[in-house]
Amino acid sequence: MSSLKVGLVGVGGISRTHMPGWTASEEAEVVAGSDISPEALEEWGALHNIKKLTTNADELFSDPDIDIIDLCVPNMYHAPLAIAALEAGKHVICEKPLAPTPQDIQRMIAARDKSGKQLMTAQHFRFAGVSQAMKAEIDTGTLGDVYHARGWMLRRNGLIPTATFIEKKHSGGGPCIDIGVHILDLTLWMMGNPRPVTVSGVADARLAHLPGAFATWREGAIPSSFDVEDYAAAFVRFENGATLVLEVSWLLHHDISGEDMQAWIYGDQGGCHWPSAQFLDTNYTTRQFNNRTLQLTQDKMEPHALECVEFAKAIAAGAPSPVPAEQSLQVLAILDGIYRSQAEGREVTIEL
Ligand SMILES: NC(=O)c1ccc[n+]([C@@H]2O[C@H](COP(=O)([O-])OP(=O)(O)OC[C@H]3O[C@@H](n4cnc5c(N)ncnc54)[C@H](O)[C@@H]3O)[C@@H](O)[C@H]2O)c1
Repeated sequence: MSSLKVGLVGVGGISRTHMPGWTASEEAEVVAGSDISPEALEEWGALHNIKKLTTNADELFSDPDIDIIDLCVPNMYHAPLAIAALEAGKHVICEKPLAPTPQDIQRMIAARDKSGKQLMTAQHFRFAGVSQAMKAEIDTGTLGDVYHARGWMLRRNGLIPTATFIEKKHSGGGPCIDIGVHILDLTLWMMGNPRPVTVSGVADARLAHLPGAFATWREGAIPSSFDVEDYAAAFVRFENGATLVLEVSWLLHHDISGEDMQAWIYGDQGGCHWPSAQFLDTNYTTRQFNNRTLQLTQDKMEPHALECVEFAKAIAAGAPSPVPAEQSLQVLAILDGIYRSQAEGREVTIEL
């Protein structure tokens, strides 16, 4: 029997990728679930043989037998539910974006610090073998002084046209908030999370409102309630002098394969590319990993599952959160800066 008990809130799409992680974990197991949809909850409970089911998440928070709350609900519920769970003394792992605004995340961090519990953002791309190996290699100093990076996650036509994704009051934003968080988190992490100070950005919808615009991921026209951006681009400056160029889209006449997600990290001793893991050095040679980091490249398990395993391990060991909320605060501060820069038509300052 695992000693840490998990209550999962939101039994929809992404929760299916967390369940194998909790099943594989030696430290934790799911014992309860909550969802506002009684039908979805019943079906999930039957599938996983979980009997403790409630449509009121507060019942999981006040349950003394539960140690960890796993939040797999739409974006706008992340902050209120995480804060309530932390205040009730639970550890929280929460789907990305940790919250739609930096202010929400600051409140979550305050609740975490008051409770003394752990808070982790489910940034699963960090848990891919190639990401782990690249990060370990970069952390040896192989790139020298990292002074520039580029990250992009561009979909030609890839969005979920439901209110929880395409209406700002529910999602907090479009591709910046939905997928920008992935590539930005990964790129910042590989850069060593320098502190962002300014951003100049655009975030607009040039295709979503055109007659006949459609969403391939749930066939049919894009609803007229679409009020978020469909693409964004930004230039970010950091306190240490480094810079970053970011591009994201749900809709863009780019790359017929459907999705193009990449990053380049540039230092004065070398550069590297994710996900190919090519390292370039000052002798104009290209290599992959050294013997020490090579073993990390193997995926231990599917990254969404591994993030749950690693969170439980960290709690059991009294170790820090594998994805600290402070790093998600940087991500959301930059994305918030892009929206402010779009509104003001100029570079804006990031206060952190
Ligand atoms: N990491 C990834 O790759 C990835 C991929 C997709 C979605 N996500 C994130 O996961 C979260 C959920 O997205 P999804 O695609 O699973 O959505 P979904 O609509 O498939 O599932 C959400 C579930 O939450 C339930 N729910 C809604 N409000 C609730 C509330 N207040 N309390 C309890 N349950 C509630 C819904 O009934 C539904 O069952 C979002 O934050 C999204 O950004 C992450």
